[in-house]
Amino acid sequence: MLDELRGKLPGWVAASRLHASEGRVASYIPELAKAPGAALGITVLGRSGESVSAGDTELLFTMQSISKVFTLLLALMDNGEEGVFAKVGMEPTGDDFNSMLKLELVEPGKPFNPLINAGAIAISSLIHGSTPAAKTERVLAFFSEAAGGASLAVNEEVYRSESATAHRNRSLAYFLKDNEVLGEDIDVEDVLSVYFRHCAVEITCGQLARMALVLALGGADPASGRQLVPRRYVQIAKAFMLMCGMYNASGEFAIKVGIPAKSGVSGGILAVVPGRYGIGVIGPALGDKGNSTAGVHLLETMSRSLAWSMF
Ligand code: DON
Repeated sequence: MLDELRGKLPGWVAASRLHASEGRVASYIPELAKAPGAALGITVLGRSGESVSAGDTELLFTMQSISKVFTLLLALMDNGEEGVFAKVGMEPTGDDFNSMLKLELVEPGKPFNPLINAGAIAISSLIHGSTPAAKTERVLAFFSEAAGGASLAVNEEVYRSESATAHRNRSLAYFLKDNEVLGEDIDVEDVLSVYFRHCAVEITCGQLARMALVLALGGADPASGRQLVPRRYVQIAKAFMLMCGMYNASGEFAIKVGIPAKSGVSGGILAVVPGRYGIGVIGPALGDKGNSTAGVHLLETMSRSLAWSMF
């Protein structure tokens, strides 16, 4: 299967790259605006370790919202389902990823799901560790293990750039504090520092594909077969990815591509072909729903040609 892909992938990447011009690089985090808008890269990694890559796979980028899938898994391992779902719901919102609307409209002010910003901030507060630095260390260790033993690190410039301009996320977090989703003993700035840092973890397409492959294999490490994450928690994460991993384009993505995926504002996409492949994509130019225009086009092409839809 990957042999078939090897021949076709460079042509598909070249065709999808043209769609980068339909998007724009995110600039609300000033440091992200430096990314090359015309870039597109992809790695597809199979269960026996074979991989196919094409395009700008040497690019380093920050995980941004893609990290939320893995902090959710860590929070589930730390607190169990009951502990996590006491703080976040199980439903898509239909609103923007940084929206505040439903926190006030719907009682009891709990974020609808762990992939919107409010939900991911609540999830950051659930990660065990005695200090924000200790929590971040645990996040990095878990992400690095899922990425196949890479030493993933925080891009401190991106972290500082986001922290200095994150007025909206700060408002969301203080709102959560007022709603008691963040309890009395929780310091809002401490939680935000963990959240901004996990969003700023720097990665390549290949490492992202490796993280995706762990999800494709139901939480098992592709090399050792060891269960890194309980299968049940990976089911929860993949259900959220399908429902709201591509924000307000998740329905369209489920119809056109039909696999669980998660995007980030840096233009990364992590996608999972269950039981078969982990995929990492980078294409920094984003469409109006916040997803990589070239990256989504490429995944659509591949899914149609290779019959990847789960449905
Ligand atoms: O909180 C933020 O706004 C960013 N750190 C992450 C947002 C994000 O990636 C949304 N993605 N489409």
